[in-house]
Amino acid sequence: MSSKAVLITGANGEIGHGLVARLTEKNPDVRIVAIDVHPLSKTLQEKCHEVIVGDIMDSSLLDRLAAFYDFGTIYHLAAILSTKAEREPVLGHRVNVDGTLGLLELAARQARATGENVKFLFPSSIAAYGLPDVPSKMKAGKVRENEWLDARTMYGINKKYCEDLGRYYNWYYRQIDPQPTTAHVDFRGIRFPGLISAITLPTGGTSDYGPEMMHYAAQGKVYDCFVPESATLPFMVMPDAINALLQLEATPAKHLTQVVYNIGAFSVSAKDFYDVIKKAFPNAEVNFKPDSLRQKIVDSWPADVDDTLAQKEWGWKAEYDFKRSFDEYLIPAVKQRYTK
Ligand code: NAD
Ligand code: SER
Repeated sequence: MSSKAVLITGANGEIGHGLVARLTEKNPDVRIVAIDVHPLSKTLQEKCHEVIVGDIMDSSLLDRLAAFYDFGTIYHLAAILSTKAEREPVLGHRVNVDGTLGLLELAARQARATGENVKFLFPSSIAAYGLPDVPSKMKAGKVRENEWLDARTMYGINKKYCEDLGRYYNWYYRQIDPQPTTAHVDFRGIRFPGLISAITLPTGGTSDYGPEMMHYAAQGKVYDCFVPESATLPFMVMPDAINALLQLEATPAKHLTQVVYNIGAFSVSAKDFYDVIKKAFPNAEVNFKPDSLRQKIVDSWPADVDDTLAQKEWGWKAEYDFKRSFDEYLIPAVKQRYTK
């Protein structure tokens, strides 16, 4: 077996792009093993030790990885996002739940074999929450981790259940085994808000209207926004999301009392997005054409989250508020991206 490696599933996705870049910037010698059903871009491939175009549901692939590598940390990013999982719920469940279970088993087997904990970083979501209607949502304000947990989407239910699986693997795995293992899966989850990247475009999500509005405006394309101006969600830019994953990964386990934490940056309406985008791209054309079915999903997610626990236990603080996100990260980077 070779020395400790980092496994990233779903490495070709939006978070994967940011994470692979940041991990290699931080430590050029990091050995990243990346899996995705889609091939990684050439730049990403060059940063990885091994790239596998494959499915996390392929158990023989996971067996091969377990036999060949000793993983210190697994970033399990592969998933079917909320809108796609609502269109194909069985696929969503298979990838989001069965896929996660397979990865947790891989981590548990490795912990047993090496006698060392394997860190398992899991991006959960505000979709784990389910609020009954907009008045309740606006009244609830910043929701805490243990409130409003009646998720209404297949994706949200999958995320919540995987958090519970993480709790099980972390604290109770094979609890009646007469010969308990000395090491375990050190599961660490974050309920991310909607993420916005200047580098990649989202696909298959429900918070996509925010980033889509900006990317369309930067390309001079008309955007039909599928939620009304008043729709409000918590959002965060990708550099902060990557910071959060790295910060939580680096925190000593003794500081952590939970397996999943909220993190917040800013809470904004679709109109707030429109205003800031219109200022940067005066020709931007956005039509608010709510799709009442997708809107219902947004309405069931909280307007904001309480991240006191993450602040207290691992020092979480977003570096980018709404203004700084657009002024210093999003607008300059998308302008550069589309004027190349
Ligand atoms: P993404 O859709 O850009 O990336 C997911 C990646 O997983 C894709 O590259 C896809 O090809 C890959 N994938 C899907 N099924 C797979 C399979 N069976 N085997 C291997 N690879 C597979 O999404 P993202 O924004 O990068 O999200 C990464 C993680 O973060 C997901 O778990 C998502 O639920 C979570 N998350 C994202 C957001 C957000 O706003 N982007 C918010 C909260 C949580
Ligand atoms: N942003 C994601 C989505 O919309 C939620 O995790 O699916």
